[in-house]
Amino acid sequence: MRDNRDRPGQADSDDIAGNPSENKTFHDVLEARLTRRTVLRGLGTGAAAAATGPVLGVLAAAPAEAAGKGLSFTEIKHGLDDKHHLPPGYTAQVVVRWGDPIIKGAPVFDPQKVTAAAQGGQFGYNCDFLAYMPLPRGSNSSTNGLLFSNHEFNNAELMWTGIPSNSAKHDILNRDQVMAEIAATGASVVEIKREGKDWKAVPDSRYNRRVTAATPFRIAGPAAGHARMKTKADPDGLKSLGTLNNCAGGVTPWGTCLSGEENINNYFAADPKHPTEAGNYKRMTIPEKPRQPWYKFDERFDLKKEPHEANRFGWVIEVDPYDPRSTPVKRTSLGRVKHEGATCAVDKSGRVAVYTGDDQLYEYVYKFVTAGKFDAKNRAANMNLLDDGTLYVAKFNADGTMNWLPLTFGQGPLTAANGFRSQGDVLIETRRAADLSGATKMDRPEDIEPDPHTGRVYVILTKNANRKPQETEPANPRSENKFGHIIELIPPGSEGPKGRIANSDHAATTFRWEMFLMGGDPSNAGHGAKYGPGVKEGYLAAPDNLAFDRRGHMWIVTDGQDDAIGVADSVYACDINGPRRASTKLFFNAPRGAEVCGPCFTPDAKTLFLAIQHPGEEKGSTFAKPSTRWPDFKADVPPRPSVIAVTKDDGGEVGG
Ligand code: FEO
Ligand code: CA
Ligand code: CA
Ligand code: CA
Repeated sequence: MRDNRDRPGQADSDDIAGNPSENKTFHDVLEARLTRRTVLRGLGTGAAAAATGPVLGVLAAAPAEAAGKGLSFTEIKHGLDDKHHLPPGYTAQVVVRWGDPIIKGAPVFDPQKVTAAAQGGQFGYNCDFLAYMPLPRGSNSSTNGLLFSNHEFNNAELMWTGIPSNSAKHDILNRDQVMAEIAATGASVVEIKREGKDWKAVPDSRYNRRVTAATPFRIAGPAAGHARMKTKADPDGLKSLGTLNNCAGGVTPWGTCLSGEENINNYFAADPKHPTEAGNYKRMTIPEKPRQPWYKFDERFDLKKEPHEANRFGWVIEVDPYDPRSTPVKRTSLGRVKHEGATCAVDKSGRVAVYTGDDQLYEYVYKFVTAGKFDAKNRAANMNLLDDGTLYVAKFNADGTMNWLPLTFGQGPLTAANGFRSQGDVLIETRRAADLSGATKMDRPEDIEPDPHTGRVYVILTKNANRKPQETEPANPRSENKFGHIIELIPPGSEGPKGRIANSDHAATTFRWEMFLMGGDPSNAGHGAKYGPGVKEGYLAAPDNLAFDRRGHMWIVTDGQDDAIGVADSVYACDINGPRRASTKLFFNAPRGAEVCGPCFTPDAKTLFLAIQHPGEEKGSTFAKPSTRWPDFKADVPPRPSVIAVTKDDGGEVGG
């Protein structure tokens, strides 16, 4: 989701007070980081040919001879209009869009009847994270699978007539509209099939399900049953209703989907005088009057009436897409923040590391490491692996090392002296625990993805225009960072030509790090951009999500290029290794108002799925007069957030 400052006239709820850093400016250290990258370039050319090692999601490694071959598509030009754009020789088709019926008995989409009853059986609004999960489970099928998508939030101004485009005024929604929003939020599982060149949803599949903002969840991990998790409706603190504002996510090695609850502050009305929770509300930037008026019609969102309800959101959720009757779970061990996503890497010892970012100005990068080991032969034994382990927060050092600081009750400052009485307290107030631990304040951490070939991990920092010159430091080196940057984390064993995920030590508490790229226009010296060689049209701003193809290329999507550089949000691809490392190439432009989310490939890399979120979300754009009617382009049909499948007309690998 865009930070609120991007939207004209909105309250600035994502903008917290700057953190006056004691660090000095370290531009010289940054230069050293970038120079060292050149050395590594020469070393890294063979790494993409590596075996993938233990299971990671569903990506299949390319044969060695295919790895390292270049990105052959013809780069497109930046632009801004009401349509999407692809290189010649590529086609995009809509697989499923907001309002498409996916549950038996659901009505066909009628833009005049956007109701809770209809939405509960239809594909929800604002798809963000996508996962393609092959059918049957455990196969590498690239023609039949389950599409997991979440539904982050709603654009009421494009769903109903009469709502102003300034979404700060969404508090005019009535009860029926709020109930429809609750049903349109959450996640979907939809079976999809490729027949010939066409991808189609299977509307009556037994796997299809909707998770909404009212679906029962099990609360698991150290905060389950904690006194601060209990409510009138749930006196045991073990069962909550619904999931909110899911942004990016990930796939576990055992074939479930993770998704991060992000800007929960948009839904809860805080009690600023609450005797014990007021500081907690403030640290999560929950205002007394939120953007969404849900609290007027469902009192659990009114924290003056139900003070612990907000503590039951801000977690990573886990959904088993292969079992439509399974109860989704909130994994409290991964901490309570504004999670962007949650991505897994199996450590060389068999333990699982989960990387997650807290997407707000000056927030942190986290890693959770399981206590137990992944068992590739026993799926059931893995299903609660995420409940027991250690949560860490990242501290980046000027010498190119970084430390993972444990957020463990009783260690360091995380004691009763600072108000923590259990691990549950540490997790409910993860941000405060990280503050006290001395973590590095980052420029809005979005997606964090381990490269399934090398084991190196990429952290997207989307932007932070608030950072002052005296607040710059090596990992966030630009003041007024309008364009964002990407950092490469290097666990032991993942470095250089022998870097392999199978050898990577994701459980280590010390990694190295490098600056991978810095967004902006490289032809404008004032931007301070840094890429590999040859970047002209392919410069980017406001990166958000990442994916890797089977040959080891990085695919980057953006959220907010229209604000940053005046063009549509886009998809880029680049090499990780070799002479064109970090040389981004422009592949796709979204229709205006949309961000691009959820890039994900089929195992054969012949299909790239993209979530086109909030098309037409911009100043002055409304249901009656939207700035685009993508993708239907029919009179009286508003723009519809959609999942598209991008394929190459000659049947080859996307980008190949
Ligand atoms: Fe929902 Fe961090 O973007
Ligand atoms: Ca989003
Ligand atoms: Ca974003
Ligand atoms: Ca995002």
